[in-house]
Amino acid sequence: MTTRDVIEEVKQKLDIITIVQDYLPALKHSGRNFFAPCPFHNEKTPSFSVSQEIQRYKCFGCGESGDVITFVQNMENVEFPKALELCAKKAGIPLERLSSYSQKDSKLFEKKKAILGANQLAAEFFHYIFLKHERGEEGRIYARKRKFRKQEVKKFLLGYAPNDFQSLKAFLSKKGYSEADLVSWSLLTQKNSRTYDKFRNRLMFPIHNHIGDIVGFSGRVISADDIPKYLNSSETLVYKKSAILYGLFQARDSIRKNKFVIIVEGNVDVPMAHKVGIENIVAPMGTALTKEQLQLLKRYTDTIYFAFDNDTAGQKALIRSHELAQDLGFTTKSIDVAPYGDVDELISGGDQLLQERIDDAVSVVRFIMRSLAKELDLESAEGKSELGHRIAPILAHVNDEIAKNHYIQEVADMLDVKISVIQKLLVESKSQKTTVIDSGAEKVNKPIFQERKNTKERYLLSFLLQYPEFRSETIDWDIFSDQHALDIYKKLTKGEKSISKNIEGLKDGEKDLATELLMQQLGSFESDVEAKHFFKEHIAELTEIYYKRRLGELKKQLKHQEQKGEETAELLSEISAITNKLKTHK
Ligand code: UTP
Ligand code: MN
Repeated sequence: MTTRDVIEEVKQKLDIITIVQDYLPALKHSGRNFFAPCPFHNEKTPSFSVSQEIQRYKCFGCGESGDVITFVQNMENVEFPKALELCAKKAGIPLERLSSYSQKDSKLFEKKKAILGANQLAAEFFHYIFLKHERGEEGRIYARKRKFRKQEVKKFLLGYAPNDFQSLKAFLSKKGYSEADLVSWSLLTQKNSRTYDKFRNRLMFPIHNHIGDIVGFSGRVISADDIPKYLNSSETLVYKKSAILYGLFQARDSIRKNKFVIIVEGNVDVPMAHKVGIENIVAPMGTALTKEQLQLLKRYTDTIYFAFDNDTAGQKALIRSHELAQDLGFTTKSIDVAPYGDVDELISGGDQLLQERIDDAVSVVRFIMRSLAKELDLESAEGKSELGHRIAPILAHVNDEIAKNHYIQEVADMLDVKISVIQKLLVESKSQKTTVIDSGAEKVNKPIFQERKNTKERYLLSFLLQYPEFRSETIDWDIFSDQHALDIYKKLTKGEKSISKNIEGLKDGEKDLATELLMQQLGSFESDVEAKHFFKEHIAELTEIYYKRRLGELKKQLKHQEQKGEETAELLSEISAITNKLKTHK
């Protein structure tokens, strides 16, 4: 089977509508196509459309387009071979059928697979020791003390790395991995020429990426004397810290169902929340939340509840994360864990407490306002000033104008000053540079629809594609200046084959524009008369534009020939003919 055959088979077995709907439950039928708010950029009104007929999607807001495989690829943030594999799984095509393909594919892909394989084995090894082996007793004692439950231990594949330098090394070496690979994959450590287990006497949290591969580990100390408190895998081909959220894989369904995600600081908070039935929860593992992580979340929800630690570091992290999330179009709330230190401690205070605190969550702005009001003396000038200056940058990032104005009013009332005073503080704070970490690889913020050229021509072509009964009308193709679009139109309507068959024959670079033409929304026409009117009007407009363009060209040519002293009679007669046509045309 060739690569193309596999791709074709996968596409034939899947319906893009069903697959997209899995990811975007909001996808709704409307007219010829299905619509939803675009998952690839921020928007409130749906311009992301999917066509069942041609099995492709197109966003008329950001321009993103493709087929079912590229959709899965983009949603899952994976490379093409992985997306194909995921789609094959959905289509019920046995994975062995793909192996001939993936082997040929890329060395890189193979390498990644090898790392993931070793990580999976290591996780299962730690998990086994933790659950069954006598060397795991210390881990089990610690887990009991922290009140871990069997269900979560299994769900997160939690484990214990024994207090021993050679056990994982021996286990993986027997499986055929080389020491050099295991060192570079961050499972072994090398000192001088000796290699030994990197994780020892630690409670092991395998880190899954959002599609469930184990990309690395985070190991918590058991003995209070050991440092660091958490030892994490170094970055590898499959593990980029800034792009991974701990718990996301186990949280995905719940995030979609609940329509929000809770972000916490600590690893332990995640399985503990699952223990009390709250599963839409993730942790960025000690790093400041990044744009890339938020963009990943954006694919599942627009609303974030932060449940950060109850300390100054937690509040700083909250402010920073709120700004970044607001800038990316999220709604942000904050969960109060006080008087407990973090979510884990809150839960040990009572099984229902986290749910209660979620129900009581308030917007981040209100949350900070409350805590500043507690912290500062608002009777004093200094206290008021400090509150104003500290709240301003937070308000400045609120993306909803109405909410923003509401808070400005509230702060002004609180400090007993005019609204303009607060507004001025906002402007000042905006001009100060914010420290936003941008980790690259951004799709989402590309300029909205770069190409607005030749809209009228493309509309007419879309019309002809979508209302085939008009294709028999005589059309002077010269009126088109957009040769690229016209060329694609002709390829799509060529021969006996259907348009959806013809689109498969296009080059990859052409499919994008073809999709745009086929899926452009024209609005529905009440009657044939109305459609005919649309057609005639467009032809007339384009003809006029064409005449003017042609006239411009001819006049330029005339000037040129006059300068050279060449014969101009023919040119002049064409010019006068077009001038006349233009007059009668109007
Ligand atoms: P915390 O110190 O708040 O730990 O670090 P925690 O999760 O509440 O752990 P417990 O409850 O004391 O066991 C928050 C997170 O920061 C990362 C870890 O992901 C941790 O969960 N971290 C912390 C590190 O990566 N390295 C460290 O040395 C410490
Ligand atoms: Mn904790």
